[in-house]
Amino acid sequence: MFMNFRRVRKCQFLQLIFMCCVFSTLILCWEQVEHHVVSHIKSYSYRYLINSYDFINKSFSVSREEATSFGSFPYLIDHKNTCREKDLLLLLFVKTSPENSVRRQAIRSTWGNQTYIKKELGVNVKVVFVMGVHPDGYKRGAIQKQLQDEDLIHRDLIQQDFLDTFHNLTVKLLLQFRWAHANCAHARFLMSADDDIFVHMPNLVRSLRQLSNQGVADLWVGHVHRGAPPIRRKNSKYYVPVQMYQWSSYPDYTAGAGYVVSRDVAAKIYQATLSLNASLHIDDVFMGMCAITVGVSPQEHVYFSGEGKAPYHPCIYEKMITSHGHADDIGYLWKVATAPEVNGVSSGFFGKLYCTAVKIRLLCWPSFTMTYSCKAAFS
Ligand SMILES: *[C@@H]1O[C@H](CO)[C@@H](O)[C@H](O)[C@H]1NC(C)=O
Ligand SMILES: *[C@@H]1O[C@H](CO)[C@@H](O)[C@H](O)[C@H]1NC(C)=O
Ligand SMILES: *[C@@H]1O[C@H](CO)[C@@H](O)[C@H](O)[C@H]1NC(C)=O
Ligand SMILES: *[C@@H]1O[C@H](CO)[C@@H](O)[C@H](O)[C@H]1NC(C)=O
Repeated sequence: MFMNFRRVRKCQFLQLIFMCCVFSTLILCWEQVEHHVVSHIKSYSYRYLINSYDFINKSFSVSREEATSFGSFPYLIDHKNTCREKDLLLLLFVKTSPENSVRRQAIRSTWGNQTYIKKELGVNVKVVFVMGVHPDGYKRGAIQKQLQDEDLIHRDLIQQDFLDTFHNLTVKLLLQFRWAHANCAHARFLMSADDDIFVHMPNLVRSLRQLSNQGVADLWVGHVHRGAPPIRRKNSKYYVPVQMYQWSSYPDYTAGAGYVVSRDVAAKIYQATLSLNASLHIDDVFMGMCAITVGVSPQEHVYFSGEGKAPYHPCIYEKMITSHGHADDIGYLWKVATAPEVNGVSSGFFGKLYCTAVKIRLLCWPSFTMTYSCKAAFS
């Protein structure tokens, strides 16, 4: 009896200590919990229960003059007749910065090689690089000179006179949709991509051709973020103050690393940019805001990677569209991912079985290199 009583006391005591620990951790980390859990619960509830973003139309509408004053910078380098071919499958904007000439060169000699695309894939694709000016006034002159030289050779740069900084990314978005409207409105699809992305051009072209033959419209495809909350931590580069966006959830949008829209959607987004306040600096979120005011919603494609880097494997290469975070390995990846033996690696019963097993191992195990979702293993 006595022993039992002691054991019960000891048990309660341990319980008490445990609860204290939990509470003190909770209190100490409340800020983290608040940011990571509470804000997500709030935003998902908003997204899935209320799911009405009418306020964007109301709160962000500005006059046409005010809207066009956002991002109306003069062009320093431009090529208005880039899209002279009548039959153009894709206009692809690579968002780059003046100093990233190595990345641009890597893209030109791999997935962005227009000669290769024309010759091997049989379609017209235009790849152009969009940028502002170098933010450092001391370096600007020299870099500008190099850009002029680079452009003399390749004639594929488009530059406007704004500081090329993270907080000016929405300006770069406006540049893309306005330039496309003015100079390339007949391209059947428009893509926007980061300069550290890998695009599996043969897979992308095959898929766009198919969609085009089906006469697709209303298409906006990529890695979709649904019900993402605004970041309120001041030290984050994604920080957005309440005065700028007071609601708990952003409208759905695709990761800015790489997404595709059809011609009609590009035209609608352009129209939306003529009536919205473009001061929100996160370009992909702003794209979501434009889209929702014109009734366009994004579709998920499991092989658009968002922020993640694709695992290296032929079963992945066979299906992948984009992969993010590449620099030095772009040449290697281009070689292995477009090798002839990749085609049909998953054909037949055993091929399919093999690739499904491989992809389950690569994509469905929790790991630190998140790329395609587990769903991709079964598609
Ligand atoms: C682009 O592709 C063509 C045809 O495949 C090839 O001859 C050329 O060397 C490539 N260009 C670059 C810069 O790699
Ligand atoms: C964006 O570019 C404009 C024009 O160069 C500049 O005045 C502004 O400071 C830049 N904004 C940011 C946040 O860098
Ligand atoms: C656009 O929004 C910003 C931030 O909310 C605000 O400061 C600015 O006055 C707005 N601009 C116009 C033209 O309404
Ligand atoms: C947003 O407002 C514009 C004009 O103010 C209107 O033409 C459009 O239909 C509205 N869109 C939505 C989704 O309510």
